[in-house]
Amino acid sequence: AKINLIIPAAGTGQRMQSEQPKQYLQLNGLSLLGHSVSRFQEWASQYQHTLNTVVVLPKGDTLPSEVVGVVTCTGGASRADSVFAGLKALASLDALSEDWVMVHDAARPLVLATDIERLYQTLVADEVGGILAEPITATVKQAKANVIEKTLNRESLFLAQTPQMFRFGLLMQALIDCDRSQITDEAAAVEGLGLCPKVVLGSRQNIKITVPEDLVFAQSWLKHPSE
Ligand code: CTP
Ligand code: MG
Repeated sequence: AKINLIIPAAGTGQRMQSEQPKQYLQLNGLSLLGHSVSRFQEWASQYQHTLNTVVVLPKGDTLPSEVVGVVTCTGGASRADSVFAGLKALASLDALSEDWVMVHDAARPLVLATDIERLYQTLVADEVGGILAEPITATVKQAKANVIEKTLNRESLFLAQTPQMFRFGLLMQALIDCDRSQITDEAAAVEGLGLCPKVVLGSRQNIKITVPEDLVFAQSWLKHPSE
C-alpha cells in the first residue's frame, strides 16, 4: 500500500539546550532525523509498503546529506503548524482524502519496525486511525499546588507516542479546525472533531529525545537493541 509520512523536524529544541536543534544531533554517527527517516525506510522495505515522505524543516535549513528519498517543506511556529505544512505539501503531491498519513517526530529515533507495522495492521481497516502509546507504570497523582486531589486509575492512562496514523482528509480538517498553538499531538486535533482515535500498544524504547539525558538512554538502547 502507498503510505504518506510526515516527519516534523522544524522545532528549536529548547529543552535540549544544545547549540543546534536536536534533530541534527548525532547518535552513533547519524543525526536523530537520519535515524527516524531510515527506521521508516527500513520498515517500508521490510514489509513492502511504498512510502511518500515529507520532512518538515526550520525555515532556511537544508536536509542533512544522509537523508535521501524525501521531499521537504518549511515548518511553522508550533508542531501542529509544521504538520499542517507537511499536509499541504502532500496535497500538492496528489495525496487522496482516504490515504493514510503517518506523523512521526524526528526526535523519536528508536522507533521499531514491528511497532510501526502493528499500528498499520491494527488500524488499516479503521475509519479514523490512532496512535502508538505505552501503558503507564507509575502511580499518577492529580494535585492542585501540593495537595493531592486523587489518584488516577492507571489502567485507563497511556503515554502518547508517534507514529500517529490518520486518514489524510480527516487530519487536514482536524488541523484546520483546532487551535494549532495549543494541541501537542494529531490525536488531540482528531478528538476535537468528536472522533475517537484508537490506542495501539507501543514499546518503551520509542522515547522522544527531549532533554540531554535522553541521549544516554538512546545510546544504551542502540547498544542492546530489542530488535
Ligand atoms: N516540531 C516541529 N515544528 C515546531 C515544533 C516542533 O516540527 N514548531 C517537531 C520537532 O522538531 C520534533 C517534534 O516536533 O521532532 C516533537 O517536538 P518537541 O520534542 O517538542 O521538539 P522541540 O519543539 O524542538 O523541542 P522543545 O519543545 O524542547 O523546544
Ligand atoms: Mg516543542
